Amino acid sequence: MYDLLNDMAKRPLPFSRYTTKELWTRPHLSQQMLNFHLNQETDLASRRFEVIDKVVNWIDSQLSLSGKKLCDLGCGPGLYTERFAAINANVTGVDFSKTSIEYAVAMAKQSIQYIQADYLLDDLPAGFDVITLIYTDLCVLSPAQRQNLLNRMRKMLKPGGYIVIDVAATASLASKSEVTLIEDKLMGGFWSAGEYVGIQKSYLYPEENLSLDRYLIIEPSESWQIFNWFQHFTPQSIELELTQAGFEIAEMAGDLTGKGLQPYDELIGVIAKARP
Ligand SMILES: C[S@@+](CC[C@H](N)C(=O)[O-])C[C@H]1O[C@@H](n2cnc3c(N)ncnc32)[C@H](O)[C@@H]1O
Repeated sequence: MYDLLNDMAKRPLPFSRYTTKELWTRPHLSQQMLNFHLNQETDLASRRFEVIDKVVNWIDSQLSLSGKKLCDLGCGPGLYTERFAAINANVTGVDFSKTSIEYAVAMAKQSIQYIQADYLLDDLPAGFDVITLIYTDLCVLSPAQRQNLLNRMRKMLKPGGYIVIDVAATASLASKSEVTLIEDKLMGGFWSAGEYVGIQKSYLYPEENLSLDRYLIIEPSESWQIFNWFQHFTPQSIELELTQAGFEIAEMAGDLTGKGLQPYDELIGVIAKARP
């Protein structure tokens, strides 16, 4: 117990542990996340349907999706894939959450290929016109993981294909602070169906434009941790990472509904084209 709490009391080095898979695939958590994806009262796992409709419309207005081969990485329960398929894109959805993929398959009204896989590691099909990675999923990855994923995405595209991503902007760091919480059933039972104590330590790394929410969940039978790293970008820093991975910016906006980018915006929406 001393070692665990001593470790918990120390500021971790940036991206020193990756626990995103546990966050999305532990059985209790994946069910909680599915509920959040579908819940129209919160934007915790997905955006509300009216915003998703606007995002799909904007991407379609920029890239004319009808007849195009599109892959949605981190598709969750298929909120975007269904809409892309409804406007006649030829859609593949990839996610490592069995709960989400099973839900997407069960609810599919369109013909969509769903693949349960880890987009950082597993072999995926290629030959796509468009690849989407929506809801700031790039931000939870280390610089090396981001370059790896962007390179993989480029190789999955046809020559001259496009990626569509959104990332957190540095303006959203202003609302974050360093906190320590210790609570019985932290976050109201989110972390486990049974008894537990949750400790949250949140850190800011201003020089890196990085934040971390670290959770230690202590159940009667086991203790485990989740590290939620979140990288924030400037327009210049996301452009640099995309350029290094072989892309050029086609559009940069204040989100993926296409609104003009302002310095106070908390999101940056990007369409980038694979360089020949
Ligand atoms: C924030 S949610 C966004 C879901 C969807 N894009 C949306 O906006 O409704 C992130 C999704 O990506 C999936 N995910 C995260 N990392 C992944 C990885 N390495 N491989 C496959 N899926 C991943 C999670 O399971 C989750 O469904």
